[in-house]
Amino acid sequence: MNNLQAKKIVLGVCGSIAAYKSAFLTRLLVKSGAEVKVILTKSATEFITPLTLSTLSKNEAMADFAGNTQVWNNHVELGLWADAMLIAPASANTIAKMAHGICDNMLLATYLSAKCPVFFAPAMDLDMWKHKAVKRNIELLHSYGNLLIPVEDGELASGLSGEGRMAEPEHIVQHLQEYFR
Ligand SMILES: Cc1cc2nc3c(=O)[nH]c(=O)nc-3n(C[C@H](O)[C@H](O)[C@H](O)COP(=O)(O)O)c2cc1C
Repeated sequence: MNNLQAKKIVLGVCGSIAAYKSAFLTRLLVKSGAEVKVILTKSATEFITPLTLSTLSKNEAMADFAGNTQVWNNHVELGLWADAMLIAPASANTIAKMAHGICDNMLLATYLSAKCPVFFAPAMDLDMWKHKAVKRNIELLHSYGNLLIPVEDGELASGLSGEGRMAEPEHIVQHLQEYFR
């Protein structure tokens, strides 16, 4: 089953320890035949480099940093270009901003401009994930038609164990494949 062939995917990466998995995710998407363009939040660049994601996606990754106004010019174009937008990992911070229409970086500007389905794969620590504010923001995203890729259960970066891990890259790709089947 390879229904991601030639699909155009904008991958948004947020600041989370799970950002390291976005390298595997990019690789899997490219291997599945998708064209991938990556946007990193400023915080994400502290966890994974744009260079890594540019190399794996074969497209220059876009990152927010002071004075980089050029990337902002592309957000409408990118939002129209994409067959799907995938935010993985999606931080509590970015989920809250998406839920409330806040637009203070390239990833969020692209989200608000996107005409395509938007998938998001949260990554959080156990208690963050359980917080009512997070649950409520996720309900809001549902109500906008955004598609949740559920968190998984297991060991968390904090050392705790439970729900909150970002879905494994293979599972995220399966979600997209199911959608496009
Ligand atoms: C080591 C470390 C790990 C973090 N992991 C997460 C995480 O998994 N999920 C999350 O929502 N926030 C996490 N954060 C907090 C976010 O990085 C912080 O809220 C940041 O402002 C997110 O920015 P962004 O949404 O623009 O990417 C972590 C912070 C640190 C220092």
